[in-house]
Amino acid sequence: MAAVDKEKLPVHIGFIMDGNGRWAQKRGMPRKMGHREGARTFRKIAKYCKKIGIKYVTFYAFSTENWKRPEDEVKELMRLFNEYLDEVQDYAKENTRLVFLGDKSAFGKQMAERMTELEKSSSGFDGMTLMLAMNYGGRDDILHAVRGIADMAAKKEIKLSDIDESLVSSMLYTKGMPDADLIIRPSGEKRISNFLLWQSAYAEFYFTDTLWPDFTEKELDAALNDFAARSRRFGGV
Ligand code: FPP
Repeated sequence: MAAVDKEKLPVHIGFIMDGNGRWAQKRGMPRKMGHREGARTFRKIAKYCKKIGIKYVTFYAFSTENWKRPEDEVKELMRLFNEYLDEVQDYAKENTRLVFLGDKSAFGKQMAERMTELEKSSSGFDGMTLMLAMNYGGRDDILHAVRGIADMAAKKEIKLSDIDESLVSSMLYTKGMPDADLIIRPSGEKRISNFLLWQSAYAEFYFTDTLWPDFTEKELDAALNDFAARSRRFGGV
């Protein structure tokens, strides 16, 4: 495969980490084993993104709808998240900024505080921004922004004419981040599933049948080469 053209790399990639359950079921294992393997893939792919110079990367780790899953599956996902929060304390040397997208309060006070603390302590790192969408939904993101804007309007801090796209963007969980350029969804499903709805307005999509735990650096190279060959017009000609 041709080397990835560094000039045509996306600035912001979003990953929908799908297919963990099926990966496990295919092997006769409980679904949670697929999440465990998916968490390994997440680490590997995040590291590779940093290595090749991607500046912003978002992983869809837990949606606002995922609470409906069986209790032991949710429990295992929380265990994996906490394990990562422990490990990431030592990431200072990685020069990676960590940002959580979504309402943290659902994870409980202690975990929410750790997440906020990690965001603060990594806020000066500029090698790569790693966003973890946890208890995240695109509609919830927009709703949360709308409520914030309505509150400012009610307090007469803004006028109706101040409400524009840049104000809405600045009230989203991704405030200050560029929109997604490329969204990658493995596992054969071809839908957005409430991920970065506002931020993917002009994103390119890459779908593959590979299940997330099997997703490799090589497959990411293929997605990046595919992206590099696309003509992005942003509504123009
Ligand atoms: C969807 O696949 C995936 C999830 C609901 C969870 C994704 C989370 C991880 C891989 C863990 C990430 C870990 C860290 C530390 C960030 P699915 O299980 O619904 O797949 P299926 O369609 O095959 O059932």
